[in-house]
Amino acid sequence: MKVIYLLVCLPALLAQPTPEDIKKEWRELIAPYEELCANESGADIAVIRETWDTFVFSHDPAFKCYIWCIYENIPYLYPNGTINIEAVIGSVDGVTNEVIEKCIEPYGTCPDKCHGFWAFDHCLSDVLNLTTVKLDAPPCSVRK
Ligand SMILES: *[C@@H]1O[C@H](CO)[C@@H](O)[C@H](O)[C@H]1NC(C)=O
Ligand SMILES: *[C@@H]1O[C@H](CO)[C@@H](O)[C@H](O)[C@H]1NC(C)=O
Ligand SMILES: *[C@@H]1O[C@H](CO)[C@@H](O)[C@H](O)[C@H]1NC(C)=O
Repeated sequence: MKVIYLLVCLPALLAQPTPEDIKKEWRELIAPYEELCANESGADIAVIRETWDTFVFSHDPAFKCYIWCIYENIPYLYPNGTINIEAVIGSVDGVTNEVIEKCIEPYGTCPDKCHGFWAFDHCLSDVLNLTTVKLDAPPCSVRK
């Protein structure tokens, strides 16, 4: 019986999460901080909700700071403000080390924290095929 169960369920276990699955998990992860981060950043709740409905990222500077606030609260950042890759990996289905690597190099250590974590998050959404409007921003990470 166990063998049959495994054979039946294996395809489901191996299946990649769909973009819709990933979006749903992300929305659930950040929901507790929506009001707090809207307050702190001054971003409009309507702009925030519109972005996560469509994954067409708002370019509003306040929205960019809302993303930084989200990253601090999940938390995706160490207390010193740098990104904690281990915390990001697997926090949402499909967010693997390989996906993160594509975004950390260009956008992981930007001097402007609001723009940087916004661009990093946008990049992850692009790599995961969540968004139809891709990021159009030059790399800004500081070389060490
Ligand atoms: C956000 O601001 C509103 C209006 O000032 C306030 O009522 C609410 O408690 C604040 N929420 C959080 C989570 O800070
Ligand atoms: C920030 O903190 C993390 C974890 O303690 C550490 O690995 C990293 O080197 C620190 N980065 C800076 C720029 O201080
Ligand atoms: C995103 O879409 C491209 C083109 O269809 C595909 O090659 C790639 O594997 C997809 N990425 C993910 C993470 O599903």
